[in-house]
Amino acid sequence: MVKYLPEPYKIKMVEPIRLLSREERATKIKEAGYNTFLLKSRDVYIDLLTDSGTNAMSHYQWAGLMLGDEAYAGSENWLHLEETVKEIFGYKYVVPTHQGRGAENLISQILIKPGTYVPGNMYFTTTRAHQELAGGTFVDVIRDESHDPTRGDIDFKGDVDLQKYEDLIKKVGADNIPYITIGVTVNMAGGQPVSMANLREVYALSQKHGIKVIFDATRCVENAYFIKTREPGYQDKSIAEIVKEMFSYSDGCTMSGKKDGIVNMGGFLAMNDEELYRKATALVVVYEGMPSYGGMTGRDMEAFAVGLREALDFDYIRHRVEQVRYLGEKLMEAEVPIVRPVGGHAVFLDAKAFLPHLSQDKFPAQALAAAIYEDSGVRTMERGIISAGRDKDGKDYCPKLELVRLTVPRRVYTNAHLDYVADSIAALYEKRSAIRGLKWVYEPPVLRFFTGRFEPLPG
Ligand code: F0G
Repeated sequence: MVKYLPEPYKIKMVEPIRLLSREERATKIKEAGYNTFLLKSRDVYIDLLTDSGTNAMSHYQWAGLMLGDEAYAGSENWLHLEETVKEIFGYKYVVPTHQGRGAENLISQILIKPGTYVPGNMYFTTTRAHQELAGGTFVDVIRDESHDPTRGDIDFKGDVDLQKYEDLIKKVGADNIPYITIGVTVNMAGGQPVSMANLREVYALSQKHGIKVIFDATRCVENAYFIKTREPGYQDKSIAEIVKEMFSYSDGCTMSGKKDGIVNMGGFLAMNDEELYRKATALVVVYEGMPSYGGMTGRDMEAFAVGLREALDFDYIRHRVEQVRYLGEKLMEAEVPIVRPVGGHAVFLDAKAFLPHLSQDKFPAQALAAAIYEDSGVRTMERGIISAGRDKDGKDYCPKLELVRLTVPRRVYTNAHLDYVADSIAALYEKRSAIRGLKWVYEPPVLRFFTGRFEPLPG
């Protein structure tokens, strides 16, 4: 029997959900081109597509909406958000953006020259897309075990392999590496954390070679929770202290507030370098808006400032990560193959092991995500060959990890919902041999997973 923590909140407002019949679900997923991104929200029973912007806000955040100062420039809420980010992360400068990829666009355009290399601890879809659009080449320097879903014995599967990083510096020269991106946590590896020791070492090596360290802060509070609970020396530190120390080993960060900011929209770029800040403020007005709103409304910025502080509360973050672990353990009890250990924001099904009869060119994770919706009304997301896209020569990247992500929105579902998810997927696992592969009907040129369409291969 898996134990779980009671929610550290009570429910004040509800949003009804409904389960369509099996026949209706079969029609809906067919109409959506077997792509769960193209389903309508109203046709979904339990929505584990993403934890991005799907969070439930607290009453303090909702109250904050009423304080929105919707001035075009110099909004009161911007000053609040700016001060909060500076205080939590310790940076000197903050530039607001509408969401994480807005910040990724700015940093990529400013720092990447065509022909240069950007190492990182595994790719993320939008991050790499902006690096490539700016003419850079992403190089994966994460430790090897991160690509192995069965290595549940490793606490910090998001760590950089320093040897790989050093080898790249030797091979292409530090002058051709404008910065390294460090995801804390690593989404595509299964929400896996990076240890403080590794962050410290990466920073020291980067400083030695004059390479900037840019964190992807999107799920940094989840990372801090793992450091507190797994890394010797951090048990007695607060989440806020851990976050502060983590970011002291970086020169700047991009953040999607839609995750650990516990809001529905927002993001920022932050840094210590004044020249970089000046360039970012010059560019933000082209793509996002004034450097005092960057695509967010005043009320968005207020909710974001409040959410960032709430996220640092130990009871909140413990429940959040332990709820995800609860879902993972239920699935492991049923012997469903998942990425181990369970990460911070989601449980990832190992689609290669779930559907061994489908080779990767038959898109097992895409097929499994579609089958889960049809079987139970639960919406999940493919994180495998479709998400990975194609390289510059048009060849498919073939990632070792072929996964389906069950992403848990913050403060939205109860463990009864997660029981339904786990029981349904365990039952589907028993019928897995009936799941057919898919083929492309429409493949978009960039970030193809969002809007691509498929049809089943003949049975
Ligand atoms: N970095 C990471 C690690 C992310 O997970 C995301 C978004 C972004 C950057 C981009 O942020 O969406 O605000 O522009 N991840 C979402 C997801 C889309 O479902 O994992 P954004």
